[in-house]
Parts: sequence; C-alpha cells; structure tokens
Amino acid sequence: MALALENPRLLSLAAGFTDSRTLPVAAVQAAVSALARRPGEPEYLQYGTNLGRPGLRQLLAGRLVCREPALAGADLRERVFITNGSQQALYLAMQVLCAERDIVLVDRPSYFVFLEMLAGLGIRARSMPVDAAGRLDLPGLGARLDGLARTGELDRVKAVYFVSYFSNPSGRSLDAGEKTGLARLLADRGLVVPVIEDAAYRELHFGEAPATPSVPGLDDWRGFPVLYLATLTKPFATGLKVGYGYCTNADWLVRMAHLKGHHDFGTANFTQAILEEVLADGSFDRHLAIVRPAYERKMRALHETLEAEGLPAGGWRWAAPEGGLYLWLEAPGAIETGLASPFCQACIAEGVLYVPGELCFGDEPLRNCVRLSFGVLAEDALREAGRRFARVARRFG
Ligand SMILES: Cc1ncc(COP(=O)(O)O)c(C=O)c1O
Repeated sequence: MALALENPRLLSLAAGFTDSRTLPVAAVQAAVSALARRPGEPEYLQYGTNLGRPGLRQLLAGRLVCREPALAGADLRERVFITNGSQQALYLAMQVLCAERDIVLVDRPSYFVFLEMLAGLGIRARSMPVDAAGRLDLPGLGARLDGLARTGELDRVKAVYFVSYFSNPSGRSLDAGEKTGLARLLADRGLVVPVIEDAAYRELHFGEAPATPSVPGLDDWRGFPVLYLATLTKPFATGLKVGYGYCTNADWLVRMAHLKGHHDFGTANFTQAILEEVLADGSFDRHLAIVRPAYERKMRALHETLEAEGLPAGGWRWAAPEGGLYLWLEAPGAIETGLASPFCQACIAEGVLYVPGELCFGDEPLRNCVRLSFGVLAEDALREAGRRFARVARRFG
C-alpha cells in the first residue's frame, strides 16, 4: 500500500479493499437522516453496550437463521455480538483461547492477517493439508494429528480456523462433505476444540447464495464450541468497520465480552445504528444486489485478461471464483513470487502489485502463488493490471 501511494502509476491488485465507486453513499446518507429525524434523545450518539445494539443483534440473528434452516426456531440474539470488524472478533477469540506456543489448525492457504496475528501472539499455526484441487485432505490431516500426538503436542491444539466461503486468499469454498468430514475426524481423535468459521465473504456470491450450510447449521459440529464470524464491511461499507460473531458457547462468549470491554466497551454505536437502519429498511440488500454483479464483472475483467494473455499456456493455474474478491494463481513451479523475488520486483517495475502467496500459509509455504484482488480497481484498470502482470509472467515463463 505504501508503494502504491508513492507511485500513482502502480496498479495495485494487492489490497483487499472494496470498490469505492460502489460504496453505498446514498443509503448511508438516508440512514443518517432517518436517525436525525427520529424523535427523542439521539441515543445513537451516546455510548452503546459492550455486546452491541440489541436491534442490530436481533436483525443479524434473524439473517443467520434465514440462511441456516437448521437453526430455525433458535433464539440466537443473546449469542450474537458486534465487533469492530470481524478482525477484532478474531483477536478476542485468540486471546481468550490460546497462550503462547499453543497451536491453531488453519486452512491452507489461509487469511494472512490472521496468520500474522497468531505469529504476533506467539501462537503456532499448523496447516490442514489439502489435495491438488485444494480440498481438505482428511487422511493427511489425520496423519498430521498423529504426528502431534507422537510429539506430545496434541493437547496444545486449542482451536481450528478456516475461511469457508470464497476464501481470502484462495476464492474457494469448503463443501458440506469437507466440513462434516473435518468435524468427524476431530471428534474421532477426541479433539473437540473450539472452531472458528470465518464467513467474511459469504454475502459476496456472484450467482445463487451458496447452498453449503455453515458450521452452526451442521449436526456433526454440535458438540463443538463454535464461533461463526461474519462482517458488514465487505458486503456493505468497509469504512463502517462493523463485524459480528455468533458463539454457541456461553463461557467463551462471556470471556470475549469481558475482553472487548477492556478494548472499547462497545463498538461505535453510531455506525451500528446506521447498519441497523440499512438492514431494516432493505437498502443493505439492495446494495448487495448492485455489488454482487459489479464484483463478478470485475473478476471476469481480470480473469479473462489473464487467460487472453496466455497465462494458462505458460503453466499458470487458477480457478475463476464464484464470489469474494480474489484470484489465487499458482505459477509454474520454478517461479518464486515472494516479496524479494525477481518476479515480484519485475512486477513492481512493470507497475503492478500483488500479495505474495507465501504469506498465506501457516507453515510449509508454497513459494509460487500470488493473490490478486479485483476489489479496488475499475474494470479497465484491472485489464491493464492483468496485461502488466502477464508481460512479467511471460518473461519468467
Ligand atoms: C477472511 C477475512 N476475515 C476477516 C477479515 C476482517 O474483516 P473486517 O474486520 O473488515 O470485518 C478479512 C478482511 O480482509 C478477511 O479477508
């Protein structure tokens, strides 16, 4: 980001920001006006409560129940809490669950800011193996757990984390078989540890909403403490910085709430009030109906440019995602893409930035992957960035 600011000619496919052109200015303006017109005291400009606005929590609980038929009839309100983006919830969860040297099992590849957080807290990330198609390799994970048992470290595994829908960075979603298979494997090993499902991109689907239930909606996870995390930043406005969690375990929730009290005793009430307004008046969903096809067009602009520029013939592999903000590319094995690599430096010289894939692994990083974000740039700029990237790829191919 610093490089992009210094050199305006650089086109950044690196930052996971949303598109400023489609941010919901009118919806936010209408929400603020509606709040200002409301009779009585401007409670939305007052401190709120630690767990968040009751009305917003109720709306979000209702949305979750709509998505998960299995949760119908359940009253989730008391278990839903609001945070400063889902990022804060991740931090609260880790602080509560883990001590230094503890282990968290993570997806592969995984959300690199979470991995950085683990490293910062002295917590060890261990990847759950995947097959060539990127699906969870459950026998491989079983072997990995055996290894941890042999070294006496299995009881240091304190949590499991994965990004389940249109992942950052891979763009992939876990299917129901992977989710239930994982639950069974962990239960078979007696490893009934807290699981964190990060669903940050679930709302950003291009076609139909994903049919795969989330962890709280799957029977096999019932015995596990579950934290389901989602956010209103990516699907609506990143600048409002409001995320939320649904935690099935009362003790875990109380401990996170105490910690949140130490951080801030509640996420900004005003931004929550705006979101409560837009969810209630339907403008949140109207906004989603605009951004979903807009992001799909942007994804296609980048994806099709890379195809047209001959990357597949050069041995580059990737799949067009069905939602989210990212393309995850694997270069032919010999091309290393790390920050200090000649390939990365050549891309910067050519005027295009990406996130080196090696940052996205809890351990045993692949050195030949890149994450390209199509969130920020307009379609023309994405095509130009794609051409620049492809020029460098051809030189190294
Ligand atoms: C997978 C994932 N989880 C969580 C977050 C945190 O998002 P926020 O704090 O805006 O909700 C991000 C942001 O990029 C993300 O990609």
